[in-house]
Amino acid sequence: MPVQRERSEIYLLTRYLVALLIVCLTIGLSAAETHDPLSRKLERLSNLHGSFTFAVIGDTRSGGDDYRGLLLRLMERSPDFVVNTGDMVNSPGKRVWADFWEQSRPVSVPYFLTVGNHDVDDKKSEELYKNVVDLPGNELYYSFTVNDSLFIILDSNIPGQDRKITGDQYTWLEEVLSASGHKHKFVFVHHPLYPEKGMGFHYGGSLDKYPEDRDRLAALFKKFSVTIVFAGHEHLYLRKMVNGVMHIITGGGGAVLYAQEEQGGYYHFLLVTVDGNKVKGEVIDIRGNVKDAFQL
Ligand SMILES: [Fe+2]
Repeated sequence: MPVQRERSEIYLLTRYLVALLIVCLTIGLSAAETHDPLSRKLERLSNLHGSFTFAVIGDTRSGGDDYRGLLLRLMERSPDFVVNTGDMVNSPGKRVWADFWEQSRPVSVPYFLTVGNHDVDDKKSEELYKNVVDLPGNELYYSFTVNDSLFIILDSNIPGQDRKITGDQYTWLEEVLSASGHKHKFVFVHHPLYPEKGMGFHYGGSLDKYPEDRDRLAALFKKFSVTIVFAGHEHLYLRKMVNGVMHIITGGGGAVLYAQEEQGGYYHFLLVTVDGNKVKGEVIDIRGNVKDAFQL
């Protein structure tokens, strides 16, 4: 091979490798930017004073264009932070999670995740979840506060306690609620306590699978005056009051819908504004229409 041609091929190969390295570094840095450390998220929230607004979205399930469309609408409304009610991805894997954070790039505010059954299904995927989602401790359940509001994120997928909030997590939850003097308390759990029969596919297969444990949890929420319980799992929107506590299922974040539009089967997110004693909510669909509104 002529020396000139050999040099030219080495030169091209070197350029290719350098370009590849730059792409890899860019992807890595992008993921790191989107995936803020929890400490930074909490620091940003500690600077909030007075009224604030948070958005809730769920069952994005690597939802592609619908998820991205919802996020653009959501960020137009400038929430202070976002909470996902779970099933962020379809099936866990490093590349899938990188893709989720890449799709979530429009969310330039703190983004908190609730674990769903599609996010973790064994020990390996649990370890991966702990790597790709910042958590304050070693558990997938946690809490944080914003002004006079308490936010509790639960894990309804613990092996041996699947579709239940029991054991150490229940003890922790009771302690957090009893120690809280917060005016408003918001709970996020992937599996709903009260799915509706005939709407969606998970009636009897959510926290209602174990009615005694579900009722004990509901009584705890009632005792400590929880403001709203947000869930997902059913790919639709549903709001109901049960024993004085508001329960909302918001699972229309991008996955295939489980109901007709008139039964809540539309892509949507929620915006909740806390202003002193008042809590106001709006449900907004992918076209920007307000589909439901409430005030507490
Ligand atoms: Fe689910």
